[in-house]
Amino acid sequence: MKELAEILLTEEEIARRVQELGAEITRDYQGKELMVIGILKGALPFMADLIRQIKVPLRYDLMAVSSYGDSTRTSGAVQILKDLEMGLEGQHVLVVEDIIDTGLTLKYLLSNLQTRRPASLKVCTLLDKPSRREVEITPEYNGFVIPDRFVVGYGLDYAERFRELPMIGVLKPEVYTGK
Ligand code: IMP
Repeated sequence: MKELAEILLTEEEIARRVQELGAEITRDYQGKELMVIGILKGALPFMADLIRQIKVPLRYDLMAVSSYGDSTRTSGAVQILKDLEMGLEGQHVLVVEDIIDTGLTLKYLLSNLQTRRPASLKVCTLLDKPSRREVEITPEYNGFVIPDRFVVGYGLDYAERFRELPMIGVLKPEVYTGK
């Protein structure tokens, strides 16, 4: 990929880790039914791969949120652009996210979902940037801890581009500056 300065995670590394996460989730939810909630748009490829590695019965639903704030920093005010179709009362809910950065988006989302009275509420994120955290959020399932770099690919975008890349990498600086 000519726009990437560096590949952080290859397609094979991601696939291997998704398989491990699926096995872990399968063990933890033995005998239960899962309700998987994917957060659009970034979590779409991850969720599609993950649900096929989870071997307990599940249903899934999708939610879209937008955070207000400038391009590099979320403000913590979150708007629900698309809400769930299914209720969560009494369900074992697993929220699937692409990346946790400051944690502000997820904190809002979790408190919102908690009001819907699920039997349990856990988080599975593909990527975690703990060095940027502003609120305390610890995902129960975490694919990779990554350094404080802006990454794209496998659902993650820069200005809506690069989501389709099968790997995760860091953009070349000229992509941002347009030179
Ligand atoms: P938070 O509220 O700061 O945790 O923001 C989380 C959201 O910011 C993610 O769901 C992504 O949409 C976006 N985000 C954070 N870091 C990156 C990145 O490195 N690349 C692409 N999107 C990112």
